Formats: sequence, C-alpha cells, structure tokens
Amino acid sequence: MILGLETSCDETAAALVSPGGEVLANVVSSQADLHARYGGVVPEVASRRHLELVVPVVREALAVAGRRLDEVELVAVTRTPGLIGALLVGVSAAKALAWARHLPLAPVDHLHGHVASLFLEPDPLEPPFLCLLASGGHTLLLEVSDRAGFRVLGTTLDDAAGEAFDKGARLLGLDYPGGAALDRLARTGDASAYAFPVARVGGLDFSFSGVKTALLYAVRDLPVEELAARRGDLAASYQRAIVRALAERTLLAAEQTGARRIALVGGVAANSELRASLPDAVAAPLELCTDNAAMIASAARYVRAIPCPDYLGLDAAA
Ligand code: KG4
Ligand code: ZN
Repeated sequence: MILGLETSCDETAAALVSPGGEVLANVVSSQADLHARYGGVVPEVASRRHLELVVPVVREALAVAGRRLDEVELVAVTRTPGLIGALLVGVSAAKALAWARHLPLAPVDHLHGHVASLFLEPDPLEPPFLCLLASGGHTLLLEVSDRAGFRVLGTTLDDAAGEAFDKGARLLGLDYPGGAALDRLARTGDASAYAFPVARVGGLDFSFSGVKTALLYAVRDLPVEELAARRGDLAASYQRAIVRALAERTLLAAEQTGARRIALVGGVAANSELRASLPDAVAAPLELCTDNAAMIASAARYVRAIPCPDYLGLDAAA
C-alpha cells in the first residue's frame, strides 16, 4: 500500500493507493477559503496551514481506508514544482513517516502526478496518448508514451489557463479561485456577445495575457449600471476564447503527433465547455482533476523509490 502526500500549493492531501492502482482513500483539505480574502494563495500562510493539516489528513486517510500505518509499504510525496515552503512541509512529513518505519520514499513530480491520475482504477488509460494538462499553475501539451514520464510539446508563454480563469473571475467579481464559478456564470450568458481574441503564438505554445487584458478593458468600458446585466455574456465570451485556444492547440498537437487519443487533466479539465469542445477526449474524474494525493501515489508506482535512509538529504524544488 502506498501513502501519497501532496502539499505543493493550497491543498493539503493524503491518499492510500494499492500497487494495482485502487484508491483506498483520497483526502483533500482545501485552503481556498483561507486565501480567498487575498485574491490568491499567500505562500507563507499556505505553508503554516499545511503544517497544521498534514498529520490530520494522513490520520483521516487511514481511517477512511480502515488501515493502519504499519500496512504502508511506500511513502510518496510531491517534491517539485510548487511553492517551496509548501512543498517542504510535505517532503519533511514524508521523510519522517518513511524513516520512522524504515520505508522507501518516492519523490514525485507534480506534473507526472496529474498525468498519473489517468492510471488509477477503475478505468485506467493506457499510453500512448496526448495529454492536455491545464491547471492553476501550468498549461502543457504532453506526449505520453509510457506511464513513467512524458515529453513536453507546448506550454504557456505567460499565464496558465487556470490563472487566466481565476483572474477573469476576479474581474467579474467572483471569489478566488473563480474557475468553477466562472464556468457556472458562463452558462447564463451569450458566448458570442464579445469577440475576445484567441492568441496565435508559434508552435504548440499558448498565451493568455491578451484575452485577460481584453476582458479588463471590456469591464472597464462598461457603465457600472450595465456591468451586472452583462456579467454572464462577459464570462461566456471569455471562457469561449480560453477554451478555443486550448482545444485548437490540442487538436493541432494530436494531428502533428498522430495521437489517436487525447486526455485532459488538471483543474481546468473540470471545465464543462472544454469537455464539450473535445467530446472524444478522456477526462480524469472530477475529484482527480484538481490537486490530490491519489495521483501522487499513482505516479510513485512508476518512479524509482529511494531506499531508507538515503532520502534524508532529499530537498524540495520550487
Ligand atoms: O490542478 P489544480 O487544482 O491546481 C494546480 O495544480 O494549479 O487547478 C486549479 C485551477 C484553478 O485555477 C481553478 O480555477 C481551475 O483549476 N478550475 C477551473 C474549473 N474548476 C477548477 N477552471 C475552469 N473551469 C472549471 N470548472
Ligand atoms: Zn496541480
């Protein structure tokens, strides 16, 4: 049984996963409410909260699975990328848990974790496939030819797609993180009301700064009394522009690489319009799209674990 820990940003998460990929427990404690008043994640606040929550989420995962710590055979943890202070809490907790029981420790790349959310039971996806990883921190097109890794085909030149959703949501008066709320607001509006630009940058890369600025100007130019009535249209048009950029580039990448299957992972993969725009794509289950530790434990199955006590000098990387 693998114990996974994830603390790279503002979710404190612990999960228990079997070597075969069954999720026995997947506990996520989101700090979103704590950071909402600041309009984004405050790194030092996140680190301190992880410190308070990391032991309780492990206890809860064991309770949910009805297992004991003695039954854990491997400890997996997100080592990179993320907020350094936040990562350090998870890495330190994982080292302590593993070392106290003479267990090996698997350091996991958070992005590999998102991809590995697709390898969990009951419907694991077998490579090769093309993967769009769109989250609050990343927008990547990945060629996945085996479960152990991926090749990066394209990335964002500025904001991540989730960041663009969150910043747009903020302009429309929605609380952080506003991606899901913007998705809901967009259903009430007309997506053709505003012609927001879809950036066309070279290769398979993305850019979201232009569409963000376009929304900023549209909001600024509206008389205050009209803004309330147009929020749905603005949200729908803005979402349409982001989703078009994501879907077009993904289909282009599939064409260029000859990929037969497309997968969607990361928080933005929860977006209803993105899912509808790529109807043949395999999307990770909703609870595995946003940050969680089951995906980290899943990735650990394809990572070389470090034997006890060699990992005591292991460091996190921002
Ligand atoms: O994967 P994730 O939990 O964290 C990172 O690794 O960054 O992704 C969080 C992001 C946030 O930006 C959030 O607003 C966005 O995913 N998100 C959505 C939706 N649900 C979550 N964006 C658009 N539509 C949604 N339904
Ligand atoms: Zn993530």
